Amino acid sequence: PEMHQFLHELPKCEHHVHLEGTLGPELLFPLAARNNIQLPDHFPKTVDDLQYKYDNFKDLQDFLDLYYVGMSVLITEDDFFELAWAYFRKAHADGLHHAETFFDPQGHIERGISMETVVKGFRKACDKAEAELGITTKLIMCLLRHLPSQDGLDTIALAKPYYEQGLIHGLGLDSSEKPFPPELFKECYEHMAKHHPEVLLTAHAGEEGGPEYIHNSLDLLKVTRIDHGVNSIKDPQLIKRLADSQTMLSLCPMSNLKLRVVQDIAELPIREWIEAGVPFSINSDDPAYFGGYILDNYLAVQSKFGLDVSTWKLIAQNGVKGSYIPQSRKDELL
Ligand code: HPA
Ligand code: ZN
Repeated sequence: PEMHQFLHELPKCEHHVHLEGTLGPELLFPLAARNNIQLPDHFPKTVDDLQYKYDNFKDLQDFLDLYYVGMSVLITEDDFFELAWAYFRKAHADGLHHAETFFDPQGHIERGISMETVVKGFRKACDKAEAELGITTKLIMCLLRHLPSQDGLDTIALAKPYYEQGLIHGLGLDSSEKPFPPELFKECYEHMAKHHPEVLLTAHAGEEGGPEYIHNSLDLLKVTRIDHGVNSIKDPQLIKRLADSQTMLSLCPMSNLKLRVVQDIAELPIREWIEAGVPFSINSDDPAYFGGYILDNYLAVQSKFGLDVSTWKLIAQNGVKGSYIPQSRKDELL
């Protein structure tokens, strides 16, 4: 209980949460009804049946199949606003101070929803979170790696005004990892680096893919952060590289457990990373699907690792240092 209080009060930053992954049954079914969305026949009909699916994912793809259907209930700017605002409120109650949130515009555009609807709705929630909750926020647009690189370039072109106005701050890469290695998206990342050099570049790597997915994300996409990165531990050279360059990994413990990246959270290479000096943060990924928001993820790590107060302070500090915020904001949080 003392540790619970301590972890609650620790200044936490989140770097790996998909806003569409905060859509739980309690909002999904009402939105489907409100927007007259006919969910597919195979989709669970009740909150309990849906929850059962959430508790029994086989792997990443099994989750993604449900995730893309789930997001199909999001139609209006207000839907996107409501979704993100509910997330910020929950995270604020968990003691979150800074959030860098992913979204997947291609999952909406292919259903006929405009980039404008998505970005405006999410942005409105970000602005409200900054004004009313004191949370600083960044939006990171992710490209879906199961779609062609050209689709990614088209999406970047659609988002250009929002990057220019400083309403989107990063580029990420998500969805099915293993059949779609980072090198496929080299052109997309090069375009961003050339035309929007201030934008944060990150990519999911080493969740199901091996260490070479991480090396190639660093070498070819020139990312400065790695999302997940669990499989970095299989390559000692890579561990040294991450430590030397102080490249932060955004670890998602409950996600890794639910998607069977590990069989037990205790298997995560947390002690090895700490010992080697690899910075990492602790994140919720898709909290509505994996059963816990940011504090639950901190508590899950604590229950398996029993870290001491100074180690937790180091983890929190690394999260602040690795955040995409000005030094003045870092000083406030440290
Ligand atoms: N991995 C890949 N794609 C995703 C994830 C993830 O953890 N969450 C949402 N899209
Ligand atoms: Zn993710």
